[in-house]
Amino acid sequence: MGSRSLLVLTLLVLLCVEPGFGQRGDVDLGEWMRAQEKLTQDLQENQRRVETHQQDLEALEARLNATVDQLTGQKADMDQLKEENEDLQTRLNASEMEIDELKQSGGKAAPHIAFSASLSNSGEIYSGPCTDKSLIFKRVFSNTGDAYDHNTGIFTAPVGGSYFFSFSTYGYNTHVMGAMLMKNGLLQISTHESPTADGSDSSSNAAVLRLAAGDRVHVELWDNGRVFDNLNGHTTFCGFLLFPM
Ligand SMILES: *[C@@H]1O[C@H](CO)[C@@H](O)[C@H](O)[C@H]1NC(C)=O
Ligand SMILES: *[C@@H]1O[C@H](CO)[C@@H](O)[C@H](O)[C@H]1NC(C)=O
Repeated sequence: MGSRSLLVLTLLVLLCVEPGFGQRGDVDLGEWMRAQEKLTQDLQENQRRVETHQQDLEALEARLNATVDQLTGQKADMDQLKEENEDLQTRLNASEMEIDELKQSGGKAAPHIAFSASLSNSGEIYSGPCTDKSLIFKRVFSNTGDAYDHNTGIFTAPVGGSYFFSFSTYGYNTHVMGAMLMKNGLLQISTHESPTADGSDSSSNAAVLRLAAGDRVHVELWDNGRVFDNLNGHTTFCGFLLFPM
């Protein structure tokens, strides 16, 4: 049913329930109907505008959604880049540290060389007097780089550089107590106690030696010398690379 026929129907109903309605002098029925019609048209026009606005709003929302999607994607990309950047930073820092270490060692990476041993690996040992006066330190605490040979007692420098050595000797007053630190068969430093009445003696010594690759260092008894050791580790020998050269 059109809006116009609805209006007519309404008027007819009014005329029935209120006789004299159409005859009222203060109401121009024609004018009133035209106004109602105008009002209806205005309402319809407004509704069309509202619908258009609604479509516009939906289009805007779709664009907004698309923008939000784009931003979300960009944020994910940014997060990934940030992660990659942190990763690179960590690796860069590690590389910088390595470069610093290399610079400090004069361009050569320092190999890890260090050993420490005592004479006896079981029971008691009296070494010397004997013809082969080399002391063979059998109880090895550490031997990083395998430069010390526990079968011969000889340390062989794997690379040229400055090395630190220390040894300690212990013994009783029956013999000369002490030993010599030898580099390629030549005495460098020593410990020495003549036989005296005081029972037992202990002494130690240390040196920094400059070695070429292949140089040999070991500890050797004096002629007629004797040292003692047991698992208490009285007679010891150790050394390590300070820096390569
Ligand atoms: C925009 O996104 C919201 C939330 O995800 C959703 O409810 C809405 O339907 C979307 N609008 C359009 C036009 O795609
Ligand atoms: C890298 O080093 C810089 C400067 O020393 C420091 O600020 C940064 O936190 C380090 N980054 C990482 C990931 O270690």
